[in-house]
Amino acid sequence: MIVSAEKAIELINHNQVVALPSETVYGLAGRFDRPEALKLIFATKKRPFFDPLIIHISHKDQLAALTQNIPSTAHILMDAFWPGPLTLVLERSIHVDPMITSGLNTVAIRMPAHPLFLKVIEHTAPLAAPSANMFGHTSPTSAPHVENEFTTQVPVVDGGPSDIGIESTVVQIEENEAEAVLIILRPGMIGKKELEASLQNKLTKKFSVQTKTSIVSPGHMTNHYQPLCPLVVASHEHPWSRAIHKAVCEKMGWDESLIAHKSMSFHNQNPSVTARTFYAQLRANDKLDKQYIYLQVGKDFRSEDWTAIRDRVEKASTFSIHQENSRIFVHDKLLALHF
Ligand code: TXA
Ligand code: MG
Repeated sequence: MIVSAEKAIELINHNQVVALPSETVYGLAGRFDRPEALKLIFATKKRPFFDPLIIHISHKDQLAALTQNIPSTAHILMDAFWPGPLTLVLERSIHVDPMITSGLNTVAIRMPAHPLFLKVIEHTAPLAAPSANMFGHTSPTSAPHVENEFTTQVPVVDGGPSDIGIESTVVQIEENEAEAVLIILRPGMIGKKELEASLQNKLTKKFSVQTKTSIVSPGHMTNHYQPLCPLVVASHEHPWSRAIHKAVCEKMGWDESLIAHKSMSFHNQNPSVTARTFYAQLRANDKLDKQYIYLQVGKDFRSEDWTAIRDRVEKASTFSIHQENSRIFVHDKLLALHF
């Protein structure tokens, strides 16, 4: 059900949840200070309580009620990237409900760049908002995606397609007097290079940026962002073929003559364009009633600029294809793929 921003404000102030557009993906938003709304977020998504939520703010003044002891590095990053696709994990204040943080001492905060999201926050409060999809499923990048996602009626504000198309970069900072260490908990389109460049000449102490997924960040399981039918991933050297089809069907125990697939590829695309369209393409292909999606990635898939997309493809994938001479191997997930 599409609603106006004004209606969304009214609903949210009455402890309801509303899907709001952001530049990354659509979020399912509720007031951070209303336990009833927070419970509704988890129930609507069927999300386990051990996966903490991001709080979205519209103004830096709101940080005082949510966090404490903000390191100087965090202020530099906020000035460089907010509003925008960067989430900072900070020390939480006692006013933040443990339901939001899964009982952690930290809280994740971001200022989204979509004017409608910011407007709704301005007239309500800081908003807790996970991506507006069922737990583990592909994130929505448009209002129709949200409308097709839930079994219950979820009001959604239509702000057009999301510009970035994948979730924000999540960064935790460990800082003392001598140095700062940035840990990327979830890669996004703001990468290591951009983070380093923003601190150069601004931060006087030593710093480094590390990437650490899975273990540190709760809720980062290996299966995530998944379409409903299996995603089979192959390198640019292996277009779909009858032989590959046979190998996939054998792995699945399918009768190959009855099985249809849909191909998609990342050829000739830059990472920003791919990020913007990836989830929408996955959803569209998932609806075609085929038995699997065959994704051929581009030549430069292993390069640093593709880190965030690689992370999403890896988590969304079921199998990867590896060919040695004429033998075809169907591996579980992407992990064994030698791109
Ligand atoms: O772009 C985005 O970040 C979107 C839009 C709606 O803002 N939101 C989003 O939320 O992707 P969600 O809930 O799907 O993912 C948030 C992730 C969680 O899976 C969790 O791992 C991490 O952020 N996170 C949240 N709080 C954390 C904390 N205190 N410490 C470490 N990681 C945290
Ligand atoms: Mg999510």
